[in-house]
Amino acid sequence: MALYDGKKIIPGLIIFLGLVSYPIWHNTVSGKTSYVPKLEIPKDKKECIEPKAYIRVNHKELLEDWRFSVVRSGVRTYQASNQKRYTMSLNRTCMECHRDRTKFCDQCHNYMGVTNKCWDCHLYPKEMEKGAK
Ligand code: HEC
Ligand code: HEC
Ligand code: HEC
Repeated sequence: MALYDGKKIIPGLIIFLGLVSYPIWHNTVSGKTSYVPKLEIPKDKKECIEPKAYIRVNHKELLEDWRFSVVRSGVRTYQASNQKRYTMSLNRTCMECHRDRTKFCDQCHNYMGVTNKCWDCHLYPKEMEKGAK
């Protein structure tokens, strides 16, 4: 995968700039303090699988690539830009670090009005501990 492919990164950057500037223009327009996402970052881990600026903007495409690779090609190993290898798995890789989606993923998604159906099928560790589903 061409990580720093300009074609992919530019639409992402536009979304990213919208995301970081949103609290500023939203407050200006509404005249009140808005809800700002509070992200619980795993305490025992220093870095994501890709640099923060990249994963923040491109995780949707990355997850789509992973799903495609596993389901269509049966390839399950991802080599990150720093040469580390990860298993391409939403549950067993992303959610092993970001254990509770309600304190991480959903914080941003609710804020941005992003919805997805991933959790209809995929469980995350926090949910399994509670014995839900
Ligand atoms: C209708 C049920 C369903 C939904 C909804 C769904 N998936 Fe999946 N997903 C599966 C199944 C089944 C597999 C194949 C599991 C395997 O072969 O390991 C899979 C595999 C994957 C994989 C690769 C293997 C793994 O263990 O993660 C990724 C990544 C993935 N899905 C991401 C997503 C994302 C992101 C969403 C939401 C946008 C999503 N899926 C929504 C059922 C679903
Ligand atoms: C090895 C543990 C680990 C794995 C695996 C992991 N992350 Fe992360 N992730 C982190 C850490 C730690 C940070 C904070 C990095 C920082 O502050 O520089 C982070 C940051 C992020 C961010 C940016 C948050 C922000 O502040 O903007 C997103 C989005 C994200 N991860 C999504 C994912 C997704 C999706 C996956 C799976 C494809 C994943 N992560 C896999 C540990 C992990
Ligand atoms: C820093 C904020 C932020 C965090 C944290 C975050 N996301 Fe997102 N996510 C977004 C934004 C913004 C979008 C919509 C923009 C886009 O489509 O790229 C999005 C879109 C998505 C989509 C595509 C939804 C669709 O169907 O169009 C998936 C899947 C997704 N995120 C999964 C995750 C998962 C899994 C995590 C937690 C491990 C996570 N995200 C954490 C901001 C975030």
